[in-house]
Amino acid sequence: MDIAFFSSQAYDREFFDRENKNHEFRLHYHDTHLGPHSLGLIEGAQAVCAFVNDKLNEEVLQGLAAKGVKTIALRCAGFNQVDLEAAKKLGFKICRVPEYSPYAVAEHAVAMILTLNRKTHKAYARVRDQNFSLSGLLGFDLHGKTVGVIGTGKIGAVFATIMLGFGCRVISYDPNENPELARRGVQPVPLDELLAQSEIISLHCPLIPKVTSHLINAQSIQKMKKGVMLINTSRGGLIDTAAAIHSLKNKHIGYLGMDVYEQEDRIFFKDLTSSIIEDDLIQRLVSFPNVLVTAHQGFFTAEALTQIAKVTLRNLDLCKQGKEIPQEFRVV
Ligand code: NAI
Repeated sequence: MDIAFFSSQAYDREFFDRENKNHEFRLHYHDTHLGPHSLGLIEGAQAVCAFVNDKLNEEVLQGLAAKGVKTIALRCAGFNQVDLEAAKKLGFKICRVPEYSPYAVAEHAVAMILTLNRKTHKAYARVRDQNFSLSGLLGFDLHGKTVGVIGTGKIGAVFATIMLGFGCRVISYDPNENPELARRGVQPVPLDELLAQSEIISLHCPLIPKVTSHLINAQSIQKMKKGVMLINTSRGGLIDTAAAIHSLKNKHIGYLGMDVYEQEDRIFFKDLTSSIIEDDLIQRLVSFPNVLVTAHQGFFTAEALTQIAKVTLRNLDLCKQGKEIPQEFRVV
């Protein structure tokens, strides 16, 4: 079976080639996004392997069907990039990797909190410049602070447990409460209470159009404590970026950590060092001293990449053999 990879990076090649020793797929790596412009690259492939910012809208799905592609393997958990109705109509088999390492993303959220609070990124640069002054590096104890977790699925649960370990009071909001977390001492509360009580808020719910898109907007920010720290390692569309910038300017948001960004598909995973960035929102965001942006690296650990390659190729193997993909790995 020939598989065309899109948005592939050197590390994808490394981990997938290693795992493919247990299979006999012919893997064709393309670094460009999957979109109408790249359909010409699919020469004789029966399957494509796509990532978070590949566009699988109706036009692209029709193009893939016309090329004879029957299977789409997403090497990620989320599938908000797929037009599910069109995919069903065209009879695609689409699979995903629902869980690879909740620790990778949860630990990255914690790294963002510690960096924003204790400013180790600034201290590192300062000391290398022989500046040993502490002014401007003042942080706060995490111990005793209230941390609000929005979404207590796999990643949110690991994150909440780590924050309990710091001695924080952890509260949560999720329409499907997690009883195990409640037993560990995480208190479920209505969303408005979480917004009002938390010194740190971390987003771990999926992006669902019309449900969670712009969950964090001008009104919800207004309900938060002044000086709140907001962390988003989930999906960029959960935050109305313009509203967040407004609240950073008037100091209602005290710290913002973003591993995801609503318009990230145009800039993340690329080296744009010598380019003119036309996106004024990201430029404004990175100009704040209390904003930390990382380029969707929450998943980026060796353990997670190993698991992603293993599950993706196993899903494709099941498809090749005409076997049923278990429900949790199936998108359509
Ligand atoms: P999960 O499916 O285990 O948990 C999501 C939780 O969100 C569920 O408990 C669900 O009930 C809850 N939820 C749904 N609607 C909600 C709402 N309106 N308000 C509050 N909670 C709501 O998913 P998992 O594995 O924990 O992943 C969470 C998110 O993390 C994913 O949706 C994905 O967007 C993001 N992610 C980010 C990565 C990165 O590299 N930064 C990598 C992997 C996932």
